[in-house]
Amino acid sequence: MVSMKKHSEMTRRQFVTASAAGLALGGLAHGAVAMQAEAAPLNDQPARGPSRVIIDTDPGVDDALALLLAMRSPELKIEGITAVAGNVPLELTLPNALRMVEIAGRNDIPVAAGAKRPLLRRLVTATYAHGENGLGGAVFPEPKRTPVDEPAAAFIRQTVRKYPGEITLLTIGPLTNIAAALSSDAELARMVRRLVMMGGSLSGGNITPAAEFNVYVDPEAARIVFQSGIPITMVGLDVTRKTSLTDEHVRVLEAEQNPVSQAAAKIARNAINHNRDRGFLVGPNMHDSLAVAGFLDPAILEFQDYYVDVETTGELTAGETLGYSPTVGDLRRRPGTEKEAATNMPIRGSAPTLASTRTSPVLRENFVPNAKVAVGVNSTRFFDLLIGRLSGKH
Ligand code: BDR
Ligand code: CA
Repeated sequence: MVSMKKHSEMTRRQFVTASAAGLALGGLAHGAVAMQAEAAPLNDQPARGPSRVIIDTDPGVDDALALLLAMRSPELKIEGITAVAGNVPLELTLPNALRMVEIAGRNDIPVAAGAKRPLLRRLVTATYAHGENGLGGAVFPEPKRTPVDEPAAAFIRQTVRKYPGEITLLTIGPLTNIAAALSSDAELARMVRRLVMMGGSLSGGNITPAAEFNVYVDPEAARIVFQSGIPITMVGLDVTRKTSLTDEHVRVLEAEQNPVSQAAAKIARNAINHNRDRGFLVGPNMHDSLAVAGFLDPAILEFQDYYVDVETTGELTAGETLGYSPTVGDLRRRPGTEKEAATNMPIRGSAPTLASTRTSPVLRENFVPNAKVAVGVNSTRFFDLLIGRLSGKH
């Protein structure tokens, strides 16, 4: 088991007390510091204390558990949660986010309502995986909390500007809110410390053979994000496919009597049953929790540098993420010549048509990575962290 002590100097009891009182928190995951230090575009000083984050989400079964995990993690100072349409419409993702905040007893965290639909497309939902209510059919009372007045994009902009170089965006839904914020403020991207996303895949999709759901829903938004210059960590299906929730995990959650563990157990139990009823052979996978956990404890994931771009025009492939790397695939070189390969590797799109010379405005002569892509996962370490924190045992 990964012990809580390893992640923070602060005990669970101290953290819960400090959170409830709205006090400043002490202690920070070493991993989170490492990730931030290397990422910081504006502020390269390692942050003291917990990492400031905004979580953008479309709850969603795995979003709900990811939110609960984040709210039980003393390494994070959650400046806000922004809801977006995705797994289900915004009319459901927003109250679901508010419900999670209430269950976690974190009424100090503002929640903002975001986009009702993708930038240019009609919304496609994933009720086949998350049920009609987004929580696998698990029913909770209507939330009493209400969202803040600012829409999500404005909230993100204001918060990033308030703490330039400090905010990490943890995105676990379609990237519509983030793209809207970036498009509204040309200076914003360089003020964001890092963006850690659950999204994309370099090994095939889950809603089409090409595309992962979050990128499929709003590929134009994803492309804006990948080309924004923000240091990106992509936690995609390549690793999140290895996070299938089991009955044993749920039993551990059911055994603990605190509200977070009980709520997580209820959502997880419903999601497993929903999956089984529909005959799915795999999952439910804890995609979004893995992205959060990888930020808390980077030893859970292994990364490789890529230039990632998003297919936006493919009739069958829109939402596919392409990862270019001089050290992977058929164009890789003999050891010792990688440096030359890196500077000589062109970023290509499809061949030019007769009518034009270029098919994309973003082709590059040379390889310059824009993302750290997760390529390996320690699933046991991940579930130790997730179930340990949700249950309150660690
Ligand atoms: C992603 O899509 C959603 O269904 C999940 O919540 C996760 O964010 C996985 O492809
Ligand atoms: Ca999600």
